[in-house]
Amino acid sequence: MESVPNVQELVRNDPLQVPESFLIGNEEEEDKLQSTADKYNLSSEIPIIDLSLLSRGSEEELHKLDKACEEWGFFQVINHGVATEVLQEMKDATTKFFELPLEEKNKIRMPPDDFQGYGQAYAVAQGQTLDWSDALFLRIYPAQYRKPNLWPIAPEGFKETIEAYSSGVKRIRDELLRCLSSTLGMEKDALLNLHQEVTQALRVNYYPPCNMPGKVLGLSPHSDTSTITILMQEDNVTGLQIRKEGEWVPVKPIPNALVVNVGDVMEIWSNGKYRSIEHRAVTTESKSRISYASFILPHAEVEVEPFGHIVELSGSQKYKKVKYGDYLRSSLKGKLKGKSHIETAK
Ligand code: SIN
Ligand code: FE2
Repeated sequence: MESVPNVQELVRNDPLQVPESFLIGNEEEEDKLQSTADKYNLSSEIPIIDLSLLSRGSEEELHKLDKACEEWGFFQVINHGVATEVLQEMKDATTKFFELPLEEKNKIRMPPDDFQGYGQAYAVAQGQTLDWSDALFLRIYPAQYRKPNLWPIAPEGFKETIEAYSSGVKRIRDELLRCLSSTLGMEKDALLNLHQEVTQALRVNYYPPCNMPGKVLGLSPHSDTSTITILMQEDNVTGLQIRKEGEWVPVKPIPNALVVNVGDVMEIWSNGKYRSIEHRAVTTESKSRISYASFILPHAEVEVEPFGHIVELSGSQKYKKVKYGDYLRSSLKGKLKGKSHIETAK
């Protein structure tokens, strides 16, 4: 593994320069990056799920959720119950954190043998195109896995703010996992129990502005190795794009809504009924962007395999059984382009 430059510092030192290692260098890909226009306006069709209706037991909303996971693998959640002030405080404190001088942020720098702390989004293999982003990665729940020495000390109160935001996300996660147990034909706590220990980790992505937004990616195409991911994005800058019908479709921010996506674990458990969709983040020339991804994961010892009752219905088992810890390790080993790491059963 080679060390990856801090992108925010590159831009601070020279906003016009983009080192070669970040250039995607493939004309076809560059063209696709530039033509992010949403030809068929698919963006406006990304499902919106009202969590307050789900909590009140709306069958209609449950059906919408089922369809959203099947047809899109992505949806936006509104009326999720996390107070606007909590979301705003998280955004304000995070913005202040990234504004700190590098030596301050480096006090919680990601150690070479860990993924927690402040550093670059992914460890990379030699020669791989780099992403135009920095990140802060923390394990949140269960609390005993936290590394307190890698939690930010500044700005004041940031730890408590992260805690408040994450406990809001936890409530959403539990509600969604109960609903998804139902839509998959199981009793309500089935998915929660299957995790053995539900793990929640937070990755905050910081994308500085880029002088050549058409030639770099903020985050390369990937699918998430999670069960589900719950993402907060900023209200005033679009960057997230999802792959749908061969196109990259922007997920336009809805103020105070959270974006949820199906991860690889859910795809395997549901035997492909729910889809873990490739997505990426693009940059802009004038604005930085911050996104907040909460990954919901099973315990490393959990053996993930398609549910028997779904396999029976669909006639064949589409994915091999895999221990989650092994799966995670193999997908983190190299920086994976696209979605190639789910082992299908042939
Ligand atoms: C992610 O895929 O983790 C983040 C995407 C985004 O920045 O919106
Ligand atoms: Fe992602």
